[in-house]
Amino acid sequence: MSNGLGEVRLKSSQVELQFPTCAMSRMYEGVDDLNRRLSALMLKLEKEARDVSSTTSTVGGFQTDNFLLSRSDPEIITLGHMIGQAVEEYIDKLFQVECFKPPTGLEIEVWGWGINMREGDINTPHVHPNAKVSGTYYVSMPPPNTKEKNPLKPEGAIIFTDPRPRANMNRMPNQVTDITVPPRPGQMILFPSYLEHFVLPFRGNGVRTCVAFNAKF
Ligand SMILES: [Fe+2]
Repeated sequence: MSNGLGEVRLKSSQVELQFPTCAMSRMYEGVDDLNRRLSALMLKLEKEARDVSSTTSTVGGFQTDNFLLSRSDPEIITLGHMIGQAVEEYIDKLFQVECFKPPTGLEIEVWGWGINMREGDINTPHVHPNAKVSGTYYVSMPPPNTKEKNPLKPEGAIIFTDPRPRANMNRMPNQVTDITVPPRPGQMILFPSYLEHFVLPFRGNGVRTCVAFNAKF
């Protein structure tokens, strides 16, 4: 077609993910003994140690203080190494995604706490304000309820909310506004501390145990 404007052609087109949210999920194997020991330790601490849950987002469960990873039990030392390595790898990725130049010479401080939850216990929506990076290692999760009411929101799952408030201003049909992670023993997830999350209750017997952690630098 000639209308005196010349031929308009597409020269290039590209799609970029702008301001993506960087999250990591890791699955460990050979952790049966480790998880048994961690479960036993957490049940022991539930009887003997201070429960700080009333000052946190944990409702109904038991939560240790923030010094769990400072203990010298072999299972805690092993988990501490796993967490330390994961945090380092995650931070590398985070810097690639978030920073125009990776910062150097950082001193990374990691601390963690354990949580036991039983039927009906929850975590209310929260962020981790005093940290840059947060995460959780799942020690035990009671078997899924066979009469699951909503397979998209499995019982005991952790739910992450879209951190872009304006992205929900005029929602598209079927827009994803949260991400659900059903916990599996041996799984570790890491995410930016600003990413709001909460934990759904579960029904049935058993204890859902996890060790959550923060890192700052
Ligand atoms: Fe949390």
